[in-house]
Amino acid sequence: VIGIDFETIRGTDDYDDEQEGLREQIIIRFSHVVATDTPKGQTARKFAQLVEAKTNGRIKVHIYANGSLYNDTNEWEAIQNGNVEMIAPATAKVSELFPKWGILDLPYAFPTHEAVTEAYEGKIGKTLLANLHNTNVKGLTFWYNGYKQLTNQVHVIKLPDDVNRLHFRIMPSPVIKEQFNQVHASTSSLPFNKTYQNLEVHFIDGQENTISNIYSKKFYEHQPFVTMSNHGYLGYGVFINKPFWESLSEYNQSAIQAALSEATDWGKRHAIEMNDHYTRELRKKDVVTIHFLTTREREQWKNAWKAVYDQMTTIIGNELMDEVHRIQN
Ligand code: LMR
Repeated sequence: VIGIDFETIRGTDDYDDEQEGLREQIIIRFSHVVATDTPKGQTARKFAQLVEAKTNGRIKVHIYANGSLYNDTNEWEAIQNGNVEMIAPATAKVSELFPKWGILDLPYAFPTHEAVTEAYEGKIGKTLLANLHNTNVKGLTFWYNGYKQLTNQVHVIKLPDDVNRLHFRIMPSPVIKEQFNQVHASTSSLPFNKTYQNLEVHFIDGQENTISNIYSKKFYEHQPFVTMSNHGYLGYGVFINKPFWESLSEYNQSAIQAALSEATDWGKRHAIEMNDHYTRELRKKDVVTIHFLTTREREQWKNAWKAVYDQMTTIIGNELMDEVHRIQN
């Protein structure tokens, strides 16, 4: 967990109800928008199991998946008002409110999983979690999903010119909007759980996402062309309502932190596996053509997107941009 000093990781036997005087049940409502069988869905489940085990069931996490309680457009307000205690939106969505968060969505910023971890756990992650001023929301850590791929229903995408004039669904993010602007594609920012229906009626031609999201929401049914571009990383900020957090005893806070740390570590390892699994499943679908970008093709995308970096430097600042370049090299 970033930015938090752990106390001891307490096992079940150590949890002292008497000492804490915690007779009452504490419920953490955790809202998210993806399917349960995804990196975020599974990491949230793991977290819930660990919190419960570490507190002898005194703290329970109720998970609301698939946007069943709140969706992308209102989950921040819900946590801000204490209508849920925890959420884990994609970092892109946080950048709408806190523009510096856009650094994590720069195209081809973090070329390996190790680089992503370095960004999340190092200076970039610490700076971003501390950058939530004037909110009731406390940033706890980052969770992992995977690299985004491009899908569309018009033709195979190999080079930047191939997306010219196509219309893409994007998450609300200035960086991602600019990423598509630079290659002359238009965009609409739409909630995750409205994406399928907008693909179905051809309001949008394409979208970008991890394979676990593409597969679990069946986007491929209307997206026969998939390009394995790995062009950006989709991960999550994990947040808790601050007044709720402050109302907890130190004992309970450290139990939650310990559970979060273990769940985060578990998610980091399993997210890669889950996306690989869904890639294998997707390859079995006859309706889908998968193109893997060649090194030469990838270079063209990187060149096309250099301007996104230039544009974002004023918002993100040289110090953090230098950190991206350091991690990249
Ligand atoms: C999306 O909106 O495409 C993703 O942020 C969904 C998610 O939470 O993984």
